[in-house]
Amino acid sequence: MRRERHSGCRSRLRSRSAVTVSKGRDDAARADAQATGGKPDEEAVVIESFLAELAAFRDAASGVLGGVAEGSGLEQARIEFLGARSGRLKAIQKLLSGLAAGDRPAGGRHFNEAKAAVTALFAAAQERLAAGGATGVDGAADVIDVTLPGEPVRLGHVHPITQTIRRVQEIMARLGFESVDGPEVEDQWHNFEALAIPAEHPARDPLDNFYLAVARGADPLLLRSQTSTVQIRVMENRRPPLRIVSLGRVYRPDTADATHYPMFHQVEGLLIEPGTTMAHLKSVLRQLASSFLGGDVHVRFRPSFFPFTEPSVEFDMEWGGRWIEMGGAGMVDPAVLAAVGYDPDEVSGFAFGLGVERIAARRYGVADIRDFYRNDVRFLRQF
Ligand code: PHE
Repeated sequence: MRRERHSGCRSRLRSRSAVTVSKGRDDAARADAQATGGKPDEEAVVIESFLAELAAFRDAASGVLGGVAEGSGLEQARIEFLGARSGRLKAIQKLLSGLAAGDRPAGGRHFNEAKAAVTALFAAAQERLAAGGATGVDGAADVIDVTLPGEPVRLGHVHPITQTIRRVQEIMARLGFESVDGPEVEDQWHNFEALAIPAEHPARDPLDNFYLAVARGADPLLLRSQTSTVQIRVMENRRPPLRIVSLGRVYRPDTADATHYPMFHQVEGLLIEPGTTMAHLKSVLRQLASSFLGGDVHVRFRPSFFPFTEPSVEFDMEWGGRWIEMGGAGMVDPAVLAAVGYDPDEVSGFAFGLGVERIAARRYGVADIRDFYRNDVRFLRQF
């Protein structure tokens, strides 16, 4: 009833932003406006219409709020009249700017009065309900309407790089490789020396590493530039046979671009067992690639060089009809075995290393690895 009265008033309004309660009434308003020669799309609002709109609003609100008998009804009334997004008061507020400049101060005053009045009516209704409903559990049930649909909670999830790390750990565990960790701040022995990278080797250049400032004369520490450090740490403390995999951060002063970042992650694998050959290496890499990317992924070796493996290879995986460079590998160099106290005549094994970002980018079709670190939830939510 009250609503109808209200809509009668608003049909006199000539404004694009007229209060919209339902489509039917909107059509009526348009028809009415056309009958009186006005265009429904006009921006201008005459002060009389504006005040009538306000009066209707107060009228309707006082009727509803005066008669409301339960918490859910009160909340509905609040949304209808005072709702910040699409409440009727909000809609009327939008009309203010359509008033002639001279009418605006008066319009604003009336608007504020109506707002204060209806807010007060709302508070009074709230108090009335609280007083009446405070006697029992029923009262509380009234205030929170348990039949309304709940608001879904937005759950976070594990970062795609961490997902990739866990997946690789899982696959390698099935092949018998135990997951181990190593420190990110390393000494020269573990990052270079024990890996047969001598002092004069270009890989130790200060421009290619993040050395940490230390007291003069001390052996400078650095942020590890590769996870091969963990090979050394494990072999120093254990005897063969060994099957380990280590996934973690490494640091190199590279300029960030689509395929580089000064911090990234590597997978390091090490297997030390009697009779190990390159064929075992290839088969492990192929199993890892096939399980991670899905399907039957082929692996190929290209001759290469690393100080700590002999022979050394770089390996590619065939995926999506193309050969894609994945990482480096080889048989552990006898010099490395000797450095950790193994007898190179007795033990042998293979090692491999590959970039986590690279395989994650392949798997998920990410063109720019910087996206992994921008922390834009719109990107991260996809994984
Ligand atoms: N550590 C090498 C790199 O960072 C990769 C590698 C690991 C190569 C193990 C051979 C064996 O490029």
